[in-house]
Amino acid sequence: MMTVVPTGAALGAEIRGADLRQLDDAAFAVLHTAWLTHQVLLIRDQALGDADLIAFSRRFGELDLAPIQESGRRFVEGHPELYVVSNVVEGGEPIGSLGSGEAVWHTDMSYQPQPPKASVLYALEVPLSGGDTSFCTMYGAWDALPDDLRARVRDVRVKHDGTYNSGGYVRHGVTPTGDPRTAPGTLHPLVQVHPGTGRTHLYLGRRRNAYIEGLPLEESDALLDRVWEVATTDGLTWTHAWRVGDLVLWDNRCTMHRRDSFDPSTRRVMHRTQIQ
Ligand code: OGA
Ligand code: MN
Repeated sequence: MMTVVPTGAALGAEIRGADLRQLDDAAFAVLHTAWLTHQVLLIRDQALGDADLIAFSRRFGELDLAPIQESGRRFVEGHPELYVVSNVVEGGEPIGSLGSGEAVWHTDMSYQPQPPKASVLYALEVPLSGGDTSFCTMYGAWDALPDDLRARVRDVRVKHDGTYNSGGYVRHGVTPTGDPRTAPGTLHPLVQVHPGTGRTHLYLGRRRNAYIEGLPLEESDALLDRVWEVATTDGLTWTHAWRVGDLVLWDNRCTMHRRDSFDPSTRRVMHRTQIQ
């Protein structure tokens, strides 16, 4: 029997009793509804090969090709949809992205015009401690925003910076700049209505190099700082400590996530898909 067990935090639920390699349509419908409701799902004790991970992800929609990694390298051999998040270095070359440092709060790929609606992260190797991943609810952020801030951000667009990834690394092929007004990126409305739930949420992407269209830089920074403080308060978050075989699926529209650093001498290997 598959069950949905909410985390008790502001977002997130665990799905118990599911083998994602053989989920019938009825069970998938329950999982899909739980994902829309709880925004992040944890499914433990899975034994997925790369093809299984891709097949499960495809049930939600088309998959993006993985972004090029910081090293300029792309793709898992034979699986261009898979992005590798790892600190492991083999033959002098990192096998994945984000290293072992902190990854700051972000939405995946929001510097693009059509970011994925969901991401799936599957744990192949994890350190004994460290490298926890936290999520925050952007529905909760909108709900918690004071009226004066709501009025100021309701109709603005934010530039989502395409210079740096969440690990602070410069993206492949980009010349870094510190001026958010001229940095590459995409403008998105700061307040959005979720097409699957009809609920209003904030859409912030990442703080570094963010810029509110049309405002003097200092005003934009001050307003963004206030909004970000509300959005990332502890009461709106849930933190996951990984085990091998954990799959976490998040709604990339109405949540953000961050990762703690971990001991660089240990191994952490995750495979990710991005769903349109
Ligand atoms: C990601 C990501 C964090 C982590 O894969 O998009 O931000 O915990 N990963 O590795
Ligand atoms: Mn991410």
